[in-house]
Amino acid sequence: MERLFIPVLLGTGRADNKSVNAAKFVYSELSKVEGVSTKLFEAGNMGYSVTVPPWGKGGADEKETAWKEAMTKADGLVIVVPEYNHGYPGELKLVLDSLYKEYEKKAVTVCGVSSGGFGGTRVVDHIKPVLIELKMVPTRGALYFSKVEESFDENGNMKDPKTAEFAKDVFDELVWLAEALKDKKG
Ligand SMILES: Cc1cc2nc3c(=O)[nH]c(=O)nc-3n(C[C@H](O)[C@H](O)[C@H](O)COP(=O)(O)O)c2cc1C
Repeated sequence: MERLFIPVLLGTGRADNKSVNAAKFVYSELSKVEGVSTKLFEAGNMGYSVTVPPWGKGGADEKETAWKEAMTKADGLVIVVPEYNHGYPGELKLVLDSLYKEYEKKAVTVCGVSSGGFGGTRVVDHIKPVLIELKMVPTRGALYFSKVEESFDENGNMKDPKTAEFAKDVFDELVWLAEALKDKKG
């Protein structure tokens, strides 16, 4: 039985972005975890070009979006985010800022992506205070996709089989934390 719902959010809408391969890999590996169901969201397709906070007249909370519906029932979240100038893409922040109470006491894992050798370590560290402010609970574990252009074949498949083993370990921690926080929301 699927006990936990943990969506995956790709944090860029850049045309021809390479992080989508990492996001699809994460989605696929997370789908294999027993008891977990997931859904892939892409920050670039979610309709935000300016901040629409979840309060006030016209606030995001007034709209029943697929993102709101997903995060309302979610037990956790995985964010796959490329590092842009050592930070996170603006479109990811717009999506995160569109909700608030829906994130409370939910486990979150961040996966960094970069073309260089550091795998987005700086963006992973930089986004955690934002997630904590949203009352999410980040896992210690993270995934780091370095040299992303070389890591996937022409069909978008991960070349290094060890990455699936790393993902399994990180998702073990995410599931453990999501189970511990389940039914503790609000
Ligand atoms: C605006 C911009 C800024 C970037 N800044 C960084 C950076 O600070 N560190 C880094 O390792 N890569 C940086 N990159 C390269 C990305 O790591 C590279 O584009 C990689 O493919 C992941 O991003 P993508 O999903 O947009 O393709 C930057 C790319 C863009 C478009």
